[in-house]
Amino acid sequence: MAKDTRSKETRTQQTTGPLGVALIGTKFMGRAHSTAWGKASQFFDLKRPPAMRCVAGRNPEETCAFATKWGWHNSTTNWKDLLSNPEIDLVDVSTPNNLHAEMSIACLEAGKHVACEKPLAGTLADAKKMVLAARAAAKKGVRTFVWYNYRRCPAVALAHRLVRDGRLGRIFHVRASYLQDWGGPDTPLLWRFQGDLAGSGAHGDLNAHIIDMARFITGDEVTEVVGAIEETFVKERAIVANAGGEISGKGARASSSSSAKKSGKSTVDDAVLFLARFKQGAVASFEATRLATGNQNRNNIEINGEKGSIKFDFERMNELQWWDHTLDPKLRGWSRIMCTDGSHPYAGHYWPAAHLIGYEHSFISEAADICAVVAGGAPIVALPDFEDAYKTQCVLEAAIRSARERRPVPIRELDKF
Ligand SMILES: NC(=O)c1ccc[n+]([C@@H]2O[C@H](COP(=O)([O-])OP(=O)(O)OC[C@H]3O[C@@H](n4cnc5c(N)ncnc54)[C@H](O)[C@@H]3O)[C@@H](O)[C@H]2O)c1
Repeated sequence: MAKDTRSKETRTQQTTGPLGVALIGTKFMGRAHSTAWGKASQFFDLKRPPAMRCVAGRNPEETCAFATKWGWHNSTTNWKDLLSNPEIDLVDVSTPNNLHAEMSIACLEAGKHVACEKPLAGTLADAKKMVLAARAAAKKGVRTFVWYNYRRCPAVALAHRLVRDGRLGRIFHVRASYLQDWGGPDTPLLWRFQGDLAGSGAHGDLNAHIIDMARFITGDEVTEVVGAIEETFVKERAIVANAGGEISGKGARASSSSSAKKSGKSTVDDAVLFLARFKQGAVASFEATRLATGNQNRNNIEINGEKGSIKFDFERMNELQWWDHTLDPKLRGWSRIMCTDGSHPYAGHYWPAAHLIGYEHSFISEAADICAVVAGGAPIVALPDFEDAYKTQCVLEAAIRSARERRPVPIRELDKF
């Protein structure tokens, strides 16, 4: 493979020409991100359109087939090949949480921009190392991004703008829950149930998203976790060959697999609930679980302010519910805003009003914003970098400490370098 002879500064400060992208990881997020990089320049006018140079996986045949199917020019089974590849400007890290730090730091040190999946890391210690590497890289013009994609649902971005524009006034309540139901006793011991690989269970997977959304919409920061519950309902799970890592455990269920002879201990939470306070006085509740039967991907947030309230539920992702408390009381009522109008954030880049968008569009919009930022432009709404995602990581850690030590945990106890 050719060696990159340009200086790191020249590579990263370039603001024109295609943005050479590489992806590590070929399963759930691998597919979502491949869609995003492939479509971003079709829906957005980009100064630096992404060029899908190389995908890194583990199995040679599968990775090669993935590259062909999803539009990558090349593939490798050694992600370290990407570090010295001159065609690659940005590496997209879409692997299990325990690998985020090693991969991201190596890429940043090689002068590549990094777009890493959430949560930033499996542990706060890894997240700190990533922030330090990002700070060093930033001095050379190298950027970091984290795939908190729900910020880019038009309804969530609209909620953020309503708060920013003062339409909710002072915020009293944040009520967020992210409920899924795929993690019952039949789901095998995927990497997502192994603490050394995942860091945590529903907590880092789902609470991470709603903490980020709450911080993004309110523009405020959590100062304290007041109390928390952590529960693992299913203590042992079947070990199934080729169980896959996707959230449904696609490829195998313990009850239907003849290979499920052994079981192993689940070392993560199935559910974490916690209460928190925000700097500007709001009180908040967060709940994440993989065992809320009947709720498949119910990413929910309600925010109540003195002038109005908003509600968002990802299962109806094109809609934002809005209550205007400044109206004459006889006219007050929840309105269901279809966020597909050209005046809504991102929506105008896709289809005409009420022609709905879906899950992948949040990733397409994020890829487009990343390309814009790397080209020296601005994102449509704020993009989380490692520093920003670290704040979410501190809240995750505070909740776990609070649950295990049965005490309030101030964020300042953790947010230290
Ligand atoms: N933004 C979101 O909404 C969202 C949704 C799901 C997952 N995620 C995050 O994305 C990340 C990946 O999750 P996923 O659901 O895609 O998992 P997955 O199990 O479906 O895929 C993980 C991929 O990583 C690859 N991999 C593992 N070790 C590797 C190595 N050493 N070298 C190269 N490839 C390696 C696997 O082969 C697989 O292709 C996690 O951090 C997860 O938290 C984010």
